[in-house]
Formats: sequence, C-alpha cells, structure tokens
Amino acid sequence: MLAGSELWLLRLMADRGRALLDADTLLILVEEKGELRVGAHSGEGSVRLRIMPVQGSALGELYLTGRPLSLERPRGREAAWLHELGLEARAALAEPLSMEGHGGGLVIALRRGGGFRGPDRQALAAFAESVAQRLAAERSVEIKRLRFGMEARERERARWAREIHDETVQGLGALRLKLANAREAGDADAISGAVDAVLEGLGLEIEGLRHLIPELRPAALDDLGLRAAVEALARRAQAIDALDVSTEIDLTGVDGDGDGRLDPELESTLYRVVQEALTNVSRHAQASSAVVRVHVRDGAVRASVSDDGRGLPGGRVPDPAARSPEEQLKGGFGMSGMRERAELVGGELVVEPAPGGGTLVRLTVPLAGRAAAVAG
Ligand SMILES: Nc1ncnc2c1ncn2[C@@H]1O[C@H](COP(=O)(O)OP(=O)(O)OP(=O)(O)O)[C@@H](O)[C@H]1O
Ligand SMILES: [Mg+2]
Repeated sequence: MLAGSELWLLRLMADRGRALLDADTLLILVEEKGELRVGAHSGEGSVRLRIMPVQGSALGELYLTGRPLSLERPRGREAAWLHELGLEARAALAEPLSMEGHGGGLVIALRRGGGFRGPDRQALAAFAESVAQRLAAERSVEIKRLRFGMEARERERARWAREIHDETVQGLGALRLKLANAREAGDADAISGAVDAVLEGLGLEIEGLRHLIPELRPAALDDLGLRAAVEALARRAQAIDALDVSTEIDLTGVDGDGDGRLDPELESTLYRVVQEALTNVSRHAQASSAVVRVHVRDGAVRASVSDDGRGLPGGRVPDPAARSPEEQLKGGFGMSGMRERAELVGGELVVEPAPGGGTLVRLTVPLAGRAAAVAG
C-alpha cells in the first residue's frame, strides 16, 4: 500500500509534471505486488481502472518493456493500454520509473491537441527520475519512521517543511525558467504562451501552498520554544543522518520576562536557517560532526551551524545560476532561501569556510526595534 504521505507526494508531483510538460493529463503509476496502481492523476479525464494486474494487461505489457514510449494518434493495439485506463489522447508519452530496491512504475503524459517533441521526452525522463528519487527517499523515511517511532511526529513536520522548500521553491524556479526562455526567444507568441503557462503554474503553486500551510509552522516552536525545537532538529540529524550534532543555546540575553522567547517570526527564521544548514551538512558536507550555536548578546541574536566536512566546492557558495536547467529543477535554492529569510527579519547571513575546515553558516539579526517577545 502507498502510504498517505507517498500519495500526497505523488499528487503534488503529478500536478507539477503536468504543468512542466504542458500536458492535458499526467499519471503516475506505481507497481506493488504484481499490480500497477494509479498513484496520482492530474488533469483531464477520469481514470476507469485504478488498479491493473501487471500480467495480462496491456498496461502491464507496456510497463514490463521498461522502455520509454512515444505515440502519435495511438490506435488499435498500441492504444490498448489507454483504453484500459479509459483515457484518450492525440499524443502519449510513457516513461518508466525505477526506484532502486523500492520497485518501479510508470509516468504517463497525454495531450489532446498537438504532439510531443524531443525536448518533451527529455523533460519527462528528467521528471520521472526526480519522482523516483523523491519516492525512494520518502520510502526510506517511511521505514526509518517506523524504526524511530517516538520522534515520528517531529520528523514528519520537519519533512513537510522541506516539502515547501523542495516543491514550491523548485516549482517557482521552473516557472522563472519558462519566462526567461520565452524572453530569450523574443517573439510575442512565445512570450504570451509562457505568460499563460506561468499563470497556470502560479495557480498550482498557490494551491499547493494552501494545502501545506497548516503543516508549515513546526508545532515544536510554539509548544516548546526555540531551544527545544532546535535541539529536536539536532537529534533528528543525529538519528537519521548519523551526524554528531552538539548544540549551544543561550537565550538568557532576551529582554522580557526571562523565558527566552523571541517573537514568532524571528523564532521560525532561526529554526528554518538551522534546519536548512543542517540538511546541507547531511547532504553535502560528508562531515562527521556539526555544532549549532544560538546566542543572544549585545542586542542581537546570532545563530551558526558549523561542520567539519569537506567544505564548499571551490571554497565558496556555488552560483545557482550556473546550474543547468535540470539541476535547477532539483535544487540549489537552500542558500538563497536562508539569505532571504535573514533579510526579511532585517538580519544578515554569511556562509564561509569554517576555521578548522568545513563550512560555517552564520546568521545575525539585530533585536532593536523588533516586536516584544511573545510569551510561550
Ligand atoms: N555544509 C556544506 N558543505 C559542503 N558543501 C555545501 C554545504 N552546504 C552547501 N553546500 C554546497 O552548496 C550548494 C548549494 O546549497 P543549497 O542549499 O543552496 O542547494 P542544495 O542543498 O543543493 O539544494 P536545495 O535547494 O534542495 O537546498 C550545494 O549543492 C553544495 O554543493
Ligand atoms: Mg540545501
């Protein structure tokens, strides 16, 4: 069975893939125990059968070839799998999904109007790869969640927080790319087409955010305060990524009634920056340990995350614009996200080589003029 969080992920990705390919319909199918199941369906038409046996169905046959397929005006035998699904199309693309050790599936894109071209096939292949990666990652998280049952709730929230970062930020990046490409092409039709596509895409992003907003603010912040929430992040990195994380948190310098609460916006900024910096350490640094510090002193709050890893590539933060469009779809927005968050609260973010090797991320936010702390 696909877990709820997996279905949710597939649904988000199906919407994203449909927008990316400008398709009328996009399906993501996942194989489970000899059956192909429609995990997500975005766009037109309704799917007649949501579960089909791999053996003995035309769709199963297509799946078992393990190869991409592109059809123009499919009919007769080659359209049999479309009929099984109860769908019609003028053009169809199918791309296998393969998740190492986590089974396989299919991504299918359909257009009612024109056909698909070479770049569309490449885009679908890249999209299928990212679906496979995300689903495999989700499944590993799922397995770990069972293993670390006690911290499940907190991890779930942290994961949704990443979801925003990965889904929305990347989605907006793709839209920006679409506009930039149209501007490059320079002709009025391309620009007006891109504006339409981007408008639709923005609609999807807004919709996606609406669903995620309730998940947005980590309950740990409100319930337990910044210290406990940051300590939970550290424990999470320790448990999931086997990173040795120590924390030094001193909030005694906060004005007010001495409970160490900053205003909610600032607390969530600090939390998010520490979260992204720790995620980067886990993903990129090959570090064995990290230190998280949060101090309030001299009228400013300072947070830092340092690691003992291999350091930034070339000793500096890579330029996101230097990434290829495919890479941009996969990420590279974490650093700018941290910087933007810092600026929104009037602070500054610096990323630099750490004194003893590795990387140091520093956030400084002056407290002067901020709203009074809200008691927790
Ligand atoms: N602690 C670190 N140690 C080594 N390299 C790092 C570290 N943090 C970031 N990097 C490098 O900087 C790049 C940019 O980081 P950034 O967080 O912006 O993007 P990302 O983590 O690749 O993708 P995402 O948008 O999903 O966060 C990374 O791809 C990595 O090469
Ligand atoms: Mg990152």
